[in-house]
Amino acid sequence: MDNIEYTFTPAEIEQIQAHVAKYPDRRSAVMPALWIAQEKFGWLSLDAIKLVAATIDIPYAHVYGVASFYTMYFKKKVPKHLIEICTCFSCLEVGGPEMMKYLKEYIEADENGVSADGKIWVREAECLGACDTAPMCQITNRRYLHNLTEEKIRDMVEKLRNDKEIPYERIPLNDQSILD
Ligand code: FES
Repeated sequence: MDNIEYTFTPAEIEQIQAHVAKYPDRRSAVMPALWIAQEKFGWLSLDAIKLVAATIDIPYAHVYGVASFYTMYFKKKVPKHLIEICTCFSCLEVGGPEMMKYLKEYIEADENGVSADGKIWVREAECLGACDTAPMCQITNRRYLHNLTEEKIRDMVEKLRNDKEIPYERIPLNDQSILD
């Protein structure tokens, strides 16, 4: 049982109502509203899901159904930073699994993929749509890191450990060097 007060600020409610207003059916606002809740609370407890349902004014069961379907919504308390390494198709062929193994060793992950310092967790991902820059990973549902190497992994982990920003990588479409 945590001591968090599950409420939205007036600004957050306004943000959610703006999403509701965009759609003919208010249930369509569930995903962005869940996202706002997860950003705020770090994960989606049953209380957070109930809060979303009450704020949109739709049945709790519907919100729960959406939250439980998608892996990007965290249904248990998780470390702050998530690294998802793609081990699908293209990434599998060019070192995705090896990058995963190296990352787990580097952060001394336990059997759940959580680092020894509790700040990072890792898991495998299915294709994330960046096959041309395989092997790659996604960081906490947002930015991608492309053409992974052990050095890049170490750099990423150290930045996350110190809560430093990881810049977006821009790989020009005509940059042939990535194909060398
Ligand atoms: S196979 Fe890894 S991004 Fe597509």
